[in-house]
Amino acid sequence: MDEKIIIAIDGPAASGKGTVARKLAKIFNLPHLDSGQLYRHIAYQAIKSEINLNNKSALLELTNKIAFDISEIEDLRNDEISTVASIISQYSEIREQLIEYQRDFASNGAVVDGRDIGTIIFPNADYKFYITASLDQRTERRYLQLKKDSAEIDRNNIKNDINNRDLRDINRKIAPLKKAEDAIEIDTTEMKIDDVIDFIVKYIHKG
Ligand code: DC
Repeated sequence: MDEKIIIAIDGPAASGKGTVARKLAKIFNLPHLDSGQLYRHIAYQAIKSEINLNNKSALLELTNKIAFDISEIEDLRNDEISTVASIISQYSEIREQLIEYQRDFASNGAVVDGRDIGTIIFPNADYKFYITASLDQRTERRYLQLKKDSAEIDRNNIKNDINNRDLRDINRKIAPLKKAEDAIEIDTTEMKIDDVIDFIVKYIHKG
């Protein structure tokens, strides 16, 4: 497909939306933007600089100083960064700082995943999917992922972290996590990743 299409993928934590987005980007030969990485990057810098998370102006100042370049940002996936990313993403001023980067990134088409992609960032995206799965299933997936690196992983902690983050992301005032009205919802609880991809590719090819 040579068109400059935008595929928006939203969904709760650990729903597999990142994997889906990555695979779709390869299939359709489009760049992939994991927008969560932008929030994680600010979170990582805020932790490093020991900024109090209630100090909005210091967080904004920090965000203004960051030169976002997704290709330079290392993978920042741990519980502390995830939670801090979710907390700082409640500030509207921080979200606004990230809009332009995301829109520029997708100016020649892209697959973008996050929480507000189909609702706020690309309300006119060509295709929108909302990827979800039960909390237990998402916990299990994250558990299996983390177990590879560490033996001391507790399912209940993972479940609480995911649930708390979802509640914060869904209930925030600005750009909350929600399915866009025109998004296709895919509940992947009982699905394998290849079946999810198959479904989406067929859907897109149908136009
Ligand atoms: O997609 P992720 O788990 O890497 O995102 C980490 C946090 O960043 C998420 O809990 C909320 C925030 N986020 C957001 O508010 N909007 C996005 N488009 C992407 C992430």
